[in-house]
Amino acid sequence: MTDAALSPAPVKASPFNELEVLWVRHWTDSLFSFGVKRPEDFRFRSGEFVMIGLPGEDGGKPVLRAYSIASPCWAEELEFFSIKVADGPLTSRLQKIVAGDTVLMGKKPTGTLVLDALTGGERLFLIGTGTGLAPWLSVARDPETYSRFGHVYVIHTVRSVADLAYRDFFTREIHDDPLIGDEARAQLTYYPTVTREEFVTPGRITDRIKSGDFFRDLGLPEGFDPARDRAMLCGSMAMIKEAGELLETYGLKEGSNAEPADYVLERAFVG
Ligand SMILES: Cc1cc2nc3c(=O)[nH]c(=O)nc-3n(C[C@H](O)[C@H](O)[C@H](O)COP(=O)(O)OP(=O)(O)OC[C@H]3O[C@@H](n4cnc5c(N)ncnc54)[C@H](O)[C@@H]3O)c2cc1C
Ligand SMILES: NC(=O)c1ccc[n+]([C@@H]2O[C@H](COP(=O)([O-])OP(=O)(O)OC[C@H]3O[C@@H](n4cnc5c(N)ncnc54)[C@H](OP(=O)(O)O)[C@@H]3O)[C@@H](O)[C@H]2O)c1
Repeated sequence: MTDAALSPAPVKASPFNELEVLWVRHWTDSLFSFGVKRPEDFRFRSGEFVMIGLPGEDGGKPVLRAYSIASPCWAEELEFFSIKVADGPLTSRLQKIVAGDTVLMGKKPTGTLVLDALTGGERLFLIGTGTGLAPWLSVARDPETYSRFGHVYVIHTVRSVADLAYRDFFTREIHDDPLIGDEARAQLTYYPTVTREEFVTPGRITDRIKSGDFFRDLGLPEGFDPARDRAMLCGSMAMIKEAGELLETYGLKEGSNAEPADYVLERAFVG
């Protein structure tokens, strides 16, 4: 018998961290957030996404999906903002997690919605639909955002008023944040829009930009300027496509980690 036959097979390092769920908050029938313990060796840049999942049922393969990390890079716990898809392979089960449960998280965060992928500018527009707000929760809580940009606009378009998760956070709570509260008070504007119910700023953000209402509401001169404006887009493919084309008409160019430029984008879901 050879040595190889006697020695045990090498243990393969798991590609996932197993993390304890610390809290869960349900916003609506289709949206919830949860927090997990951050592994000490897990590093990421604000705005990146990571794979999140649950072990397979009946010994099957784990089910994993991409998730934006809603916490800033310095946070001690990791927060996620999730859809609930009734027959979704992951979220039909993930929506039932409670504190003390375990979720799987990939070890390699990645993504383009990072400050590194943008060149310098004065104003930063973070445009999201639905759960596409998640990366802005990260970027808007990172002190570097406020040292890189004079003003930051968090824009959230949803179907119903109840879907405006984190509305209280962006209108009040962030102002008391010990790290970036002062900056948020002076440099952050939250701009929600609602498409399928009455609201003070109704309609899609793309339509409000095109009509000029967005700029009038905020007392800004109409239009974007590639010399000073930068943007990040996250949400449905339709919004990203339309908003990207709109920014291009003002002369903004799409950037990436390899070639930073004026705006970056990432779909918040496939479909
Ligand atoms: C880069 C990236 C980042 C992502 N970040 C997030 C995030 O932070 N939060 C989050 O909830 N999801 C996010 N997603 C979507 C996520 O990966 C899953 O699709 C989602 O968790 C549903 O998984 P599922 O297995 O239940 O259903 P799936 O089989 O993955 O999806 C079923 C259908 O549900 C719809 N759907 C899926 N996700 C969403 C969504 N987020 N909003 C609206 N409709 C959706 C789509 O029509 C999709 O075809 C991200 C996707 C990508 C590619
Ligand atoms: N309240 C609910 O019933 C509810 C809430 C959340 C999710 N869901 C379910 O989850 C799935 C996804 O829903 P979702 O609301 O998260 O995502 P979504 O359908 O992508 O819609 C999110 C927001 O993006 C807007 N939008 C769509 N295309 C756009 C474009 N080209 N430019 C600018 N804005 C655009 C939508 O406006 P429009 O309304 O004009 O399309 C809506 O306000 C659906 O299957 C839905 O059934 C339902």
